[in-house]
Amino acid sequence: MSDLYARIAGIGAYLPEKILTNAGMEAIVETSDAWIKERTGIEQRHIAADGELTSDLGAAAARDGLKNAGIDIEAVDLIVVATATPDLTFPATATIIQEKLGITHGAAFDVHAVCSGFLYALATADNFIRCGQAKTALVIGTETFSRILDWTDRTTCVLFGDGAGAAVLTAESGPADGQGVLKTHLRSDGRFRDLLYVDGGPSATKTVGHLRMQGNQVFRHAVNKIAGSMKELADQAGIDIADIDWFVPHQANQRILLGVSKKLGIPEHKVISTVAKHGNTSAASIPLAFDAAIRDGRIKRGDLVLMEALGGGFTWGAALTRY
Ligand code: UT7
Repeated sequence: MSDLYARIAGIGAYLPEKILTNAGMEAIVETSDAWIKERTGIEQRHIAADGELTSDLGAAAARDGLKNAGIDIEAVDLIVVATATPDLTFPATATIIQEKLGITHGAAFDVHAVCSGFLYALATADNFIRCGQAKTALVIGTETFSRILDWTDRTTCVLFGDGAGAAVLTAESGPADGQGVLKTHLRSDGRFRDLLYVDGGPSATKTVGHLRMQGNQVFRHAVNKIAGSMKELADQAGIDIADIDWFVPHQANQRILLGVSKKLGIPEHKVISTVAKHGNTSAASIPLAFDAAIRDGRIKRGDLVLMEALGGGFTWGAALTRY
């Protein structure tokens, strides 16, 4: 039985320079700062510049993560990119990032689980490391959702933003000092695909399409499904939710993340929320929030961190790490 495990050596982030505030949104669609804040907690979001691609955001977050981890780029032998907004239909955004980082060895590929993408990518890289197939992995969540929004649809365009986050995982051999990815729990159920999807794609329409969501129905499922996944994961890991130091949820809506924490009895001061400043950045939201909480000194080495997400598919899940 292998005693390899994946340690989070560092986290990195990148946000595009341009900020679109709720006041700016009022000039685009019939909405109000008050409505957006009250229903979602969002105050602003970042928007990628013309010509700034998902791979550019991802490469910048990866460089930041490697710098924070103190790890040489040459050590990376696996890149797993979570994105629903790839540069192109193919090749994978991961290989484009690999080229931008100047890496010519190892393997790079994308995983597609929309807002749960970071958890799916993390679980994939964790398993590669546990199996001895990778030694240093970049797990990147990177999105330019601004490119697939219908900017005439106020029910969706106010919710999302662009950004990227990255985690650098290194293979360590046991006995574990307790730092690392402890457990991941992934779920999906394709019966819910019509509640949150993009109405275009190469095979169905030969177009890129726009994001469509029945928000209130997604909301209804989100809290229960996420809380269920977290409970199952905590049981499998043999930990009590009360032992969690920090809760880093997917940043879709302040009401969802507080609803989940309340359901599980996680006090509000343990909840990391960046939804006000970033909006929903899909696969990038968890590493962006994780990064923000490391930078401001809340998450420290040795802390027990629980992450969760739900996204189109539906896909959902949770991950437990000791940072
Ligand atoms: O990350 C992937 C997962 N995604 C999510 O988790 C998103 C989940 N859903 C949500 O976060 C919320 O459902 C929304 C924020 C999308 C919407 O909040 P809600 O409280 O569920 O509102 P609603 O959709 O039930 O709409 C309430 C009202 C409607 O008007 P009527 O029909 O009551 O007259 C909407 O037309 O709010 C109206 N509305 C808006 N008003 C001003 C919808 N969007 C806007 C807007 N500005 N941007």
